[in-house]
Amino acid sequence: MPDFVAAKGRGHRLTMLTAYDYTMARLLDDAGVDSLLVGDSLGMVVQGQADSLAVTLDEMVYHTRLVARGVRRSLLVADLPFMSYQVSPQQALESAGRLVKEGGAHAVKLEGGVRSAAAIAAITAAEIPLMGHIGLTPQSVRRLGGFKVQRDAERLMEDALAVETAGAFAVVVECVPTDVAARITAALKVPTIGIGAGPSCDGQILVTPDLLGLFDDIRPRFVKHYADLGQAVRKAVETYCREVRDGAFPGPEHSFR
Ligand code: KIV
Repeated sequence: MPDFVAAKGRGHRLTMLTAYDYTMARLLDDAGVDSLLVGDSLGMVVQGQADSLAVTLDEMVYHTRLVARGVRRSLLVADLPFMSYQVSPQQALESAGRLVKEGGAHAVKLEGGVRSAAAIAAITAAEIPLMGHIGLTPQSVRRLGGFKVQRDAERLMEDALAVETAGAFAVVVECVPTDVAARITAALKVPTIGIGAGPSCDGQILVTPDLLGLFDDIRPRFVKHYADLGQAVRKAVETYCREVRDGAFPGPEHSFR
C-alpha cells in the first residue's frame, strides 16, 4: 500500500484491473498490473445480474479468496458490497475484517464520500487500508436513476476531501467530467484512480472482461477494448465442436496406448 500511495509523488501512473478468480488473477499479476480489485461488478460480469446490489459479503469473501491465491506482487483490494457497511461503522469494520481475514485482501474499497466518512474512519482506525469511490457509485443506481455521468463539481470535491480526511489511501473517481477529475486529483494528496474520468487521474481502472472484449451486455463510452477474446472464444469452441463431431479430435497424440 505505501508503494501505491508513493507512486503519486513519483509521477508513476497506476494501473488497476478487476479480477474475480485465480486464473485471471495470475495472468493480470504476471502482466504487471499495480493492483487488482475484486469488484462487486462481479454481480454483472460473473453472475449476469443487471447491477451489483444483490452481491453478498459471503460472495465477495469467496471471490477474494480465489483471487488472493493468484496474486504474487500486486495490491489486492476487495469491494464491500451493498448493505455490508451502510448500517453502522461497526458493521463496516466487521465486514472489512472478513475480507482481510477470510478473503486475504490487502485493502478494501467502499462507495460514497461525505455519507461514508464515519465508516471509512472506523475501518482505517483498525489499520485496514481503504480505497474510497466517489462520482458514479454503482450501488446508488436506484437513487441516481441509472449509470449516469456525475457533474456536481462542488459536491464531488467535498466527497473527495471527506474520503481523504477519513483516512483513505486512494480514491476511485468514476464517470465525472475530465476537468472536475483533474481538480480533485490536484487537491488530494492520495492517488485518484479514474474510470470514465479522463486522463488527469493518478491511475486508471477498467473492468477486465470489458477490456478483453469478453462482456458486451453494457458498452460504456469509457471502455477501450484491448482485445476481442469473446470472438476468439466463440471461434475456438466452434472448431472444437466441429472436430469432435467429425472425429478429428481426439487424435493419437491426445490418446494413450
Ligand atoms: O466493482 C467494480 O468493478 C468497481 C470498479 C468499476 C471501479 O467498483
